[in-house]
Amino acid sequence: MSLRVRLITSILVVLLVSLAVGGLSAGWTATKSVRTEMQAALANGEKAVRNGEADRRAPAAAAPGPDRQVHLFDGNRHLRARLVDEAGQMRVASVPLEPRQPAPGWLVALVAPSLPPVEVPLEFGDRSGRMLLEADPRNEVAEVWGQLRDGLAALALFCALSAALVGFVVSRALRPLEDLSAALAAVGSEGFAVRLKPAGSPELVRLTEGFNAMMERLGRAERHNRRLHEQLVAVQEEERAELARDLHDEIGPFLFCVAVDAAAIEAAAQVGNHAEIPDSAAAIRRSVSHMQGHVRSMLGRLRPASPVEIGLAPALRNLVAFWQARRPGITFTLDVEVEEDGMEEAAKEVVYRVVQESVTNAVRHGQPGQVEISIRTGPEEQVITCISDDGVGLSATAVPGFGLAGLRDRLAARGGGLQVVTGPAGRGLQVTARLPRSERAEALRPPAAA
Ligand SMILES: Nc1ncnc2c1ncn2[C@@H]1O[C@H](COP(=O)(O)OP(=O)(O)OP(=O)(O)O)[C@@H](O)[C@H]1O
Ligand SMILES: [Mg+2]
Repeated sequence: MSLRVRLITSILVVLLVSLAVGGLSAGWTATKSVRTEMQAALANGEKAVRNGEADRRAPAAAAPGPDRQVHLFDGNRHLRARLVDEAGQMRVASVPLEPRQPAPGWLVALVAPSLPPVEVPLEFGDRSGRMLLEADPRNEVAEVWGQLRDGLAALALFCALSAALVGFVVSRALRPLEDLSAALAAVGSEGFAVRLKPAGSPELVRLTEGFNAMMERLGRAERHNRRLHEQLVAVQEEERAELARDLHDEIGPFLFCVAVDAAAIEAAAQVGNHAEIPDSAAAIRRSVSHMQGHVRSMLGRLRPASPVEIGLAPALRNLVAFWQARRPGITFTLDVEVEEDGMEEAAKEVVYRVVQESVTNAVRHGQPGQVEISIRTGPEEQVITCISDDGVGLSATAVPGFGLAGLRDRLAARGGGLQVVTGPAGRGLQVTARLPRSERAEALRPPAAA
């Protein structure tokens, strides 16, 4: 069941319960008022009959006889009178007032009180009898029914209008959520280009803006990944082409030479020309040795060599020496203060890559006079790598490349992080990388510091 239907149904249930409670309370009040009214009518009727009987017995009385007394109740709204003789035979009965708009039978049965008839003994002539007065609640109930019907109709109208209004407001308020769910469904087919127009309450506007920002970030990450993938494919293809060229140019001709020299040895042996055989054998050896050299160098290229195989500090010294030789105008300083024992090879390589990319960036983009590199141990077994230069710093128009993004990915994969800020003297750039020295250190770090 959708949220909208659930909300509207709950509100409808509340309204219907209110309607039912209102109806029950009105019914209870009506029952009480009808009973009171009927009791009062019976009491008044009894009083009137007794007074009439007293008047009739008075000397020189001109009061009406018992039959007339019964007919005095003709057209009465609440009472029905009957005259019964001493043999129990009904002699005459009053004609009660019929209600103009009678109430439904179920309501009369529900509301009408069961009151015993009132008996008043009478004497007429030489005989005696009694007058029976019975309550006739139909007119009273009809009156209550009229009021109840109007009240319930007004309440029902109120409930219907409230339900319609609530339905309208809820539908409008939830429309942005429906748009959001449709947009999420559309991401599968349309990708991260889907955007929503902020609308509705402030909470929903924030939700929509959050969705748009998330789509923007995912779109950017997807483009970045695609570019990386394309680059990777291009590099692989270039590598394969180079290998094919090497195999063709450096191995192919020498294999052919080996085949020719072997055929020459065979021919010389067949004709008994043994003097030529040593020269051909020596040529084969030269060709094979040439090929061995090439195969070794190709293997060296194929095998992923780690720059830190020789240790982190020596590898960094080589790197600095490499740049110092090419950029003598820049002063490079290197300060390695970490204990390499217990530091994982993968962590050392990440540190090396951070220094490599940051120094390359400084030389390439910063025109610095000085580049300082420091590697030290931070709290919680973290390795802090800091590279700062005094160059031009990050320009406002700098376009993100793969270098810094790649470093962020490498560091994040091992539970570290990268910070790029203006250099310490307010010039240049300072790149600081934080990295757990081992997986154990990574596990030790509290999540808040991640
Ligand atoms: N030390 C620095 N001084 C000045 N600008 C820098 C420095 N380091 C980075 N930048 C700026 O930041 C941008 C992003 O650097 P990043 O290394 O991500 O990409 P890149 O060097 O341009 O390309 P590549 O993908 O080849 O690394 C650079 O283009 C440059 O404008
Ligand atoms: Mg770069």
